[in-house]
Amino acid sequence: MDLLKTNPACSEVVGIHRHTEFPIDYQNLESIESCATALSQVAPFQLIINTIGVLHTNQWMPEKRLEDLNAEQLMELMTVNAIGPALTIRHFSKLLDPKNSVMVTLSAKVGSIEDNRLGGWYSYRASKAALNMLVKTTSIEWGRTKPNTALIAMHPGTVNSRLSKPFRGEQIGRPADQAAAEMFNVIEHLQKEDTGSFLTYSGEKLPW
Ligand SMILES: NC(=O)c1ccc[n+]([C@@H]2O[C@H](COP(=O)([O-])OP(=O)(O)OC[C@H]3O[C@@H](n4cnc5c(N)ncnc54)[C@H](OP(=O)(O)O)[C@@H]3O)[C@@H](O)[C@H]2O)c1
Repeated sequence: MDLLKTNPACSEVVGIHRHTEFPIDYQNLESIESCATALSQVAPFQLIINTIGVLHTNQWMPEKRLEDLNAEQLMELMTVNAIGPALTIRHFSKLLDPKNSVMVTLSAKVGSIEDNRLGGWYSYRASKAALNMLVKTTSIEWGRTKPNTALIAMHPGTVNSRLSKPFRGEQIGRPADQAAAEMFNVIEHLQKEDTGSFLTYSGEKLPW
């Protein structure tokens, strides 16, 4: 938010989370459409970034083995990491500037099927892979209906955050403001031809 607020090319920034006036909470999927409807007053937006995602909750840690796989955890991660973001793309698509816009949703490299070497983390990997497919499929439709919009799945790299904390995030992750600056550097140079890509924070293409 701060990075965008201080950018001279940016006239207005709106931040949305679970506790804003028009909240989005993926435990209540109807909040997505209500929020988008409320924001239509201030549309169009040239850039929409969705950072919502979960790896672990109070109840669940990522599965180490197949024995740990269970329906509740898989459904919860699918809801927050794939269904919520996909419905956000759907409802927020109406707010995008049809002349020139970018929509980025944060995914994760571990959601790449081709890049999966270590296994484990079943629900997180599967939910981010599902998200990736939803992004790619939408980008194909938007090639026809929103030709001036780039829709991107982005891997932020390892960031020191609540999400990475149980996995030595404080030691191996970089600060969130640094990660945001690196990602924004890629986002500002995106072209409409980049639509339907899965990119890292440094602009490299990842295999789906
Ligand atoms: N950190 C990493 O190393 C890393 C690596 C690869 C990918 N990612 C991805 O990057 C994104 C950001 O991760 P992060 O590191 O910033 O994690 P984080 O610090 O745990 O932040 C997650 C965000 O998601 C929100 N959120 C979680 N569940 C939600 C729900 N049901 N409804 C609405 N909002 C919800 C949280 O809101 P509250 O504050 O209200 O809980 C918080 O703003 C995620 O998509 C993650 O999968 C992160």
